[in-house]
Formats: sequence, C-alpha cells, structure tokens
Amino acid sequence: MFNTRVKVKDLLATSPEGQDVIVMGWVRTFRNNQFVALNDGSTNNNLQVVMELGAYDDAFLKRITTGASLKVKGKLVASLGKGQAVEVKAESVEILGDCNPEKYPLQLKNRPSLEYLREIAHLRFRTNTFGAVFRVRHMLAFAIHKFFHEKGFLYLHTPIVTASDAEGAGEMFRVTTLPFDNPPRKEDGNIDFREDFFGRATNLTVSGQLEGELGAMAFSEVYTFGPTFRAENSNTARHLAEFWMIEPEMAFYDLEDNMNLAEEFIRTIIRFAMDHSREDLDFLAQRLVEEEKQRPQAERSEMGLIEKLEFVVNNRFERISYTEAIEILLHSPAYKKKKFQYDVSWGIDMQSEHERYLVEKHFKRPVIVTGYPKHIKAFYMRQNEDGKTVAAMDILAPGIGEIVGGSQREERLDKLEARMKEMHIPTEEMWWYLDTRRFGTVPHAGFGLGFERMVQFVTGMTNIRDVIAFPRAPKSAEF
Ligand code: 4AD
Ligand code: MG
Repeated sequence: MFNTRVKVKDLLATSPEGQDVIVMGWVRTFRNNQFVALNDGSTNNNLQVVMELGAYDDAFLKRITTGASLKVKGKLVASLGKGQAVEVKAESVEILGDCNPEKYPLQLKNRPSLEYLREIAHLRFRTNTFGAVFRVRHMLAFAIHKFFHEKGFLYLHTPIVTASDAEGAGEMFRVTTLPFDNPPRKEDGNIDFREDFFGRATNLTVSGQLEGELGAMAFSEVYTFGPTFRAENSNTARHLAEFWMIEPEMAFYDLEDNMNLAEEFIRTIIRFAMDHSREDLDFLAQRLVEEEKQRPQAERSEMGLIEKLEFVVNNRFERISYTEAIEILLHSPAYKKKKFQYDVSWGIDMQSEHERYLVEKHFKRPVIVTGYPKHIKAFYMRQNEDGKTVAAMDILAPGIGEIVGGSQREERLDKLEARMKEMHIPTEEMWWYLDTRRFGTVPHAGFGLGFERMVQFVTGMTNIRDVIAFPRAPKSAEF
C-alpha cells in the first residue's frame, strides 16, 4: 500500500514524538552518505532524512542521486541540525526509481535558466520556482471557484468546439476531419464543410461568453472557467495560443455593477492566495528581487511582490474613461519626448506601452478604462448614446497591461442586429444568440479575466509561458 505515506508539508508541521512514518519523494540533495533532502512537491521545503552510517552498502548509496525517488520508513524526531525542526530517522530506505546523474538535467550545481526549463517543461515542476508558481496557480483557481460559489453563481461548462467567432476577430483554430490534401469542394471551388464531421465549419472557442450569456438569461449569474484558443501570431511575454479564461456573465447588471464585481473578485482571490500560499509567495518575492538585480535600475519595480499585492488588495482601482486616458497620454512627458513607439490620438487601440504608462507611471495602481470607441471593440458591447463609444471596460494592471476585458452587453435587438450587420457578422447563423434578445431580454454584463495574466501578476513571473504547465505559442507545442 502506498497511500499510507504522509506528505512532507504535513510532516514538517507535526510535532515530533518518535512516531512511525512513511514518506516518499524525490531526492533534492544527498550529503555525507547520510543526509537526504527529500521533496514531494507539497512544499518547497525539504524533509531531512537521516540514514544510519554503515547500514547501507556503497552500491546502494551511489544510487541515491538528485532526482531519484525513495520510499523511507522511519521515526519522526526533533532535528538537532540547523534549518529544520523535524527529521526522519530512517529505518528502511527503498529506491523506487533511479535517476542517472550523468543525464538528469536538473543538477543543482548549474542553476538552469527559465528559458532552458521551458525546453524541459516535463521536469521543471521539480524546481523550487515552478513548484511555487504551480501551487499558487492552484490556489488561485480554487479561490475563483470559491468566490463565485459563495456569491451564488452557477459554473457553466461552455463548449470547446464552436461554430462561431465570439470576438469577431477571426483568430480561430479550425477543427476538422476533412482530408487536407483533397477536401471535398463545392461547385464554386470552396471547401464543402457539409461533408465535415459537424456538417459545418467549426473552430476552437476563443471565448465562452456568448454561451455564458445564454446561461445568464436563465440562471441570472453564471461563470465559465476553461481553456480558450487564439491563433493570433503574437510572440510576446503576455500572449498564449491556449490560455484559460474566467468569464462571469450577469443578468440585471450594468457597467458599474460589472466594474464593482471585477474589482472585488480580483482583490478577493489575491487575498486568498496571500493567506494560503504565503510561503510560496515569499519565495517568489525573493526570486523576483534576485531577477531584478540583473536589470537596469529604470526597469526595476518600485515595490516588492508582497508589497504590490498588499497595495492592490487594500486600494481602490482608478476608474477613467478612454477619452480621459487619451488626454493623459497626450499630455504625458513620454508623449512629448516622443518616447512612445506608437502614435496617440482619440480612436487608437491603446498599445501595451500606453497601458503600462497609465498604470505604472501615471496612476501607479490598477486602472479601469471605460467607454472605448466602438470600432475597436466587439459587436456585442452596448452602444452609448454618443453613437461613438461602447460600454466597455478593460482593467489594466501594473507589469501586465490588460488583465480583464468586459462590457455591458447590447440587450436591444434592433441595435445589436444593426451593429452585427455593420460588422459583417452573419446574423442568421447567430439566431440562437439573438433569441435571448427576442425572448425576455434584460440588461446584462460580464467580463473575462485572463487566468495566466492573473497568475503572472500574483507570482511576479515575467513571461506568461512560465505560469502555464505546457505553453502553446506560435511554433511551439512540444510535450
Ligand atoms: O479582452 P478579451 O479578448 O475579451 C473576451 O474574450 C470577452 N469575451 C470577455 C468577456 O467579456 N466575457 O479577453 C479577455 C482577457 C484579456 O483581458 C486577457 O487578460 C486575456 O483574456 N487574454 C489572453 N491571455 C493570454 N493570451 C492571449 N492570447 C490572450 N488574449 C486575451
Ligand atoms: Mg480585450
């Protein structure tokens, strides 16, 4: 039986009374043919296993190498050594799996870079940095479900394969079983998707929002939390081709209700991570200090990670209109000194340099921007009286830029249909979506939080590929 083992994290928190324990894990280090630092992923802290000198032959001791897996039976005792309160005095040690030290890439001597670890993503979980990142990621995911559950939201599972383009941006991965070399064609030469698996053209979802809206029109408050896919060719530290998104959708909410929820949501989940992952966050904060020492002074953050998270939890986000944001940018020293790569004028889709100026230099806190020009936003956003802007809201976060995108939705059938036609979105195919506006439409709103960007924000990791287990990005889908 294997499940009699106790996790390292729990053993480290137990008061030692010489009790019999079974512990299993992977060797981090082995010193003096006697001291094993054993880790099982439950915490970054290792358990010291003390082996009796002379009780094991040389051939056996040689097999206890970094990365090898062990089963240890012994007694939990107070540790005499420095650095730990308890240790296990081994009575038997069994090697479950050897690990060839000549070939194992994770030798402690040469500290591997994050880039190198991305190339061995199947093993990087065993490092302290990724151990901490993925435990924090887990804690945030748990906090998200807890937050919505306690508010009475229903978790709706929206489909991965869809026939629509929710964002209307055309960044979709096609799903098909048609042969690539010789697909069936219609008389006009176009591919005949009637012959395809679903009898029509389908793609991986870019967002669960449209289906979420249907749910909100019955359950009033729902949320989705699932993978979304974008075939945008953005090779940046903030874009993935496959990322996870949390999308709440609420009937009887206007834009202000939406902003209030988003703010409370972000604060609550960060607070939860700080309360339940403090050890890992402290580790990541220290890691960030080390990383930033390599950067020029001007690029270092003004606050440490913990300080930044405290600040976000305890302070209101700034709320400004898009028009005000453009005014601030136009009057900024950065603009006057021509420091922006992209030009600024009313109507632009703000670039990340503009968003980061607003949050990092001007306001020095998260900012919610509302009332974007309608031509840079999706068809479903509620049109404002001015005829130029929509009831959109983006939340911009220091070091990240856009972390949330949302809006009040256009609930008026005539206005929605007119906008879809203007934007060449096929209204006939979207009959199921438009039906919600035909049968008991209500004001409603929602938003999408990019989960990996949130994990980046909380862990301080610079590259989004380092906060997802198996990153998918342009030209990269190993593992
Ligand atoms: O702003 P977006 O495109 O909004 C939507 O998809 C809406 N349907 C959401 C809604 O109202 N229900 O995406 C929402 C968020 C962004 O703010 C960003 O955090 C994240 O998703 N995101 C990405 N994260 C990683 N890689 C990408 N390629 C991303 N694209 C968007
Ligand atoms: Mg957006």
